[in-house]
Amino acid sequence: AFEVALARSAITVAIPAGRTITDVLREHGVSVPTSCEQGACGTCITTVLEGKPDHQDVFLSKAERASDACMTPCISRSLTPRLVLDL
Ligand code: FES
Repeated sequence: AFEVALARSAITVAIPAGRTITDVLREHGVSVPTSCEQGACGTCITTVLEGKPDHQDVFLSKAERASDACMTPCISRSLTPRLVLDL
């Protein structure tokens, strides 16, 4: 599990194993636009302000992945205990 803090919404939520970031955020009233929910389309791309995403998608380029500046929260997770997203 890890936590996701939303910079603009000023909330922090815990993401348990087996649930996606977008799913948990939706439950808290924060909807990230999604389409494929499998890391393939890029619809959900979100800016990462802090932390290191565990990229599970097949959409981002190698450079985007390495920069840790954005992620696909429909499928990707976190390598750090906390991620701060621009949401
Ligand atoms: Fe398609 Fe996230 S919804 S990559």
